Amino acid sequence: MTNNMFFIANWKMFGDFKSVNSIKKVIKLSKDKKYKKAKIIYCPPYTLLDKFFKITKNSKIEIGAQNCHHYQNPGPFTGSVNVDLIKSIGAKYVIIGHSENRSSGDTNHNINLKIKSALKKKLKVIFCIGETLKEKRKNKTNSVLNSQIIRGLKNIKKNNNIIFAYEPVWSIGTGLVPKNKDLKIQINVIKKILSKFWRLNNPKIIYGGSVNPKNINDLRKISSIKGFLVGGASQKAKNFIDIIKKTIN
Ligand code: PGA
Repeated sequence: MTNNMFFIANWKMFGDFKSVNSIKKVIKLSKDKKYKKAKIIYCPPYTLLDKFFKITKNSKIEIGAQNCHHYQNPGPFTGSVNVDLIKSIGAKYVIIGHSENRSSGDTNHNINLKIKSALKKKLKVIFCIGETLKEKRKNKTNSVLNSQIIRGLKNIKKNNNIIFAYEPVWSIGTGLVPKNKDLKIQINVIKKILSKFWRLNNPKIIYGGSVNPKNINDLRKISSIKGFLVGGASQKAKNFIDIIKKTIN
């Protein structure tokens, strides 16, 4: 177990060719010894993966895709990208199970196939799990997490190539963040599920949902959280740098 902290930038459907240059400041920070614990991963839209790969080539920053098709071979899937295509561009990671994709059709079964396909091709997986507001209000958070994990990992052998991103759906893009005491409880629940189901005792669990330069001061205090999946605030280098600096300092 390393004490690395993950800072994963999820640019979603934002960013044009010019915006790639804005990450030069983050590249500079990644070369500073003071921040060597920071494992920075950029997940831009597919259209920018190549540009991101080239601009970060001589740094420790790594690149990931935001989703993939579960089918491994080339195929007639208009608009889709599989893990081979993602790998061929130099990406090392792929986000799977993001709630924005679950809400547009990704099922636990489908997510399971995607994770299998990514691991088979040696891509690391950022596996998103989390409850909706409705589920939270009905006290279903733990059972939702349980089924997302168990179904998502079905027939997959224990391994260290998955980062578990706990993202309560109600906190994504809303400015709402769980209280530290509640977040600690949920991280523990995830740990327990993984230790029971997979006998995995040191899972890499990160948090995502409205992380910003202000609330990071509180979030960083939770030692069981090994990093952050940052959406909106990662699009401005200044904010992303602030988040990294405040966490590591
Ligand atoms: P947000 O997005 O930081 O904009 O809430 C996080 C995510 O969706 O991964």
